Amino acid sequence: MSNYHIKNLEEYYQVYRKSVRDPETFWEEVAEEHFVWRKRWNRVLHWDFTKPEIKWFEGAELNITENCIDRHLATRGDKTAILFEPNDPNEKAQHISYKELRRKVCQFANVLKEKGIQKGDRVCIYLPMIPELAYAVLACARIGAIHSVVFAGFSASALATRINDSECKMVITSDGSFRGNKTIDLKGIVDEALESCPSVTSVLVAKRTQTTIAMKAGRDYWLEPLMEVAYKDYVPEVMDAEDPLFILYTSGSTGMPKGMVHTTGGYMVYTAYTFKNVFQYRENDIFWCTADIGWITGHSYILYGPLANGATTVLFEGVPSYPDFGRFWQIIEKHKITQFYTAPTAIRALAKEKLDYVEAYDLSSLKVLGTVGEPINEEAWHWYNDNVGKGKTPIVDTWWQTETGGIMISPIPFATPTIPTFATLPLPGIQPCLVDEDNLEINGSPANGKLCIKFPWPSMARSIWGNHQRFRDTYFSTFENKYFTGDGALRDNTGYYRITGRVDDVIIVSGHNLGTAPIEDAVNEHPAVAESAIVGFPHDVKGNALYGYVILKETGEVRNHDNLRKEINQLITEKIGPIAKLEKIQFTPGLPKTRSGKIMRRILRKIAHKDTSDLGDTSTLLNPEVVEDIIKNAL
Ligand code: WT7
Repeated sequence: MSNYHIKNLEEYYQVYRKSVRDPETFWEEVAEEHFVWRKRWNRVLHWDFTKPEIKWFEGAELNITENCIDRHLATRGDKTAILFEPNDPNEKAQHISYKELRRKVCQFANVLKEKGIQKGDRVCIYLPMIPELAYAVLACARIGAIHSVVFAGFSASALATRINDSECKMVITSDGSFRGNKTIDLKGIVDEALESCPSVTSVLVAKRTQTTIAMKAGRDYWLEPLMEVAYKDYVPEVMDAEDPLFILYTSGSTGMPKGMVHTTGGYMVYTAYTFKNVFQYRENDIFWCTADIGWITGHSYILYGPLANGATTVLFEGVPSYPDFGRFWQIIEKHKITQFYTAPTAIRALAKEKLDYVEAYDLSSLKVLGTVGEPINEEAWHWYNDNVGKGKTPIVDTWWQTETGGIMISPIPFATPTIPTFATLPLPGIQPCLVDEDNLEINGSPANGKLCIKFPWPSMARSIWGNHQRFRDTYFSTFENKYFTGDGALRDNTGYYRITGRVDDVIIVSGHNLGTAPIEDAVNEHPAVAESAIVGFPHDVKGNALYGYVILKETGEVRNHDNLRKEINQLITEKIGPIAKLEKIQFTPGLPKTRSGKIMRRILRKIAHKDTSDLGDTSTLLNPEVVEDIIKNAL
């Protein structure tokens, strides 16, 4: 029986039971099997969810890039590690071999060192999906610097917040980026952000769009000439298994984004294990995950997971709609993709277009399809299954989070029978449970409750950067001795899980996690706005879209509402990014509040959902007349 290539449901249950009965032996076996450790661990696991303190492979030493690159050279030196597919289909794809990847990462590592970056320093990476992004991430890992990748769609202000929170010493960016038929001035955004980032002493700039940009003397350096003269070897820094590998920001329901801290050994073991298992990866497969490396999906399943397995991983710079809606399918045919991993929102957008786009291409290389990021609705699932998978390619609906580091609940292709909208069963080593309103674990099925995990797994986040108390409060204080995911789920009588969505004020729009509080803060900065409240409502492509209720200040001045709507969305674009724009903005004289002054979001959600037949318990509602007014004028 193999821990990896699980052949049927019975075998899954055997492996699963083994992993739960004795997790330490299970993970020790996985860790021994595949990796280069410079020093072995003294203890597999130490944990205490009350603090919380979680340590995997304590005492072990390693470098993750040695495992993702050097280890493969003997047998796979000339194999393509990264297959770069540019935005423009007429530009040639690049096949970057493991040998070449090693050279680039070593040169980049030397450039970082030369610019004064030391082990433990934070480096912010704000780059488009180009090979330099992969080199930058891996070069940080090679020298033991902590990378903090910020998705290059975030605004200057969002970038500055993230740089300052972890006091990054350096920013790595490019002159610009290509997205479809647009060119974006990335360096301009970085310059604006850096006006308020005192910790940053240097900026490395990769060339991509050849745009003329301003370079600040003594701070900004073109990457290319530095790489050219840099030494082609770099002995990997020896890291502790529990040394931080990276910080990745995710939205919370309130306050600042949370800088989730991931460490080295456990993260490597878990992402490598789940990559191989969930995608049933085999040596000559060509794996394509369409996420951006700015999100956890890209960290774990474009870079670390696939590279730790010596796989060929596709890095796609563009968008699904350029030059037309057949782009994804064209790439699958062109590179003979074997596993394709994307988001429900992309599937829904493509399902709206003519089927000809899909049918024009040969998709017969596909063996496994995956989705991630939000619940997939039944219609989208069937479209994906029928038209992309031709009814014979298993779909893995993978549930996980930035905080979990790797896939947690997912079918295993060919072993787990799938049911649309169900993420199905926990992967080996993962112990989910459902908790009821009284905070008690629900035994037995069927059941519906809040989804928690009651035992540690190797790739779980260890802290929030600079705020361990918040880590504890957010994830470990709601339910005793359990990690709380923030999601609701139901479990059917066969033990299958179906994720029903967030139970907090996080809204997932087009697969992007958005906290309502920071968006409300941005809206409230508009001089005409007195107060606002934002909720989600169902949207047929985005999954959810944002509905803003806005109270204007009483100035006596008459303002054009459409202009105000534009200005508010412009402000959101500047403060956070275009992904957080409001789909609907309703101006209202008031918001439903409780006697203690809390906004009753439940009512606002119902109105946005156009479901006002039963508003539930309104006994604590202070101002029922406002609710009537909002319903009457709802958009
Ligand atoms: C939230 C985490 C993990 C990669 C991308 C998102 C939702 C994620 C699924 C799924 C239903 C899902 C959850 C989760 N989510 N995958 N297969 N089915 N919901 O990472 O930005 O940290 O978001 O995404 O609500 O809590 P993230």
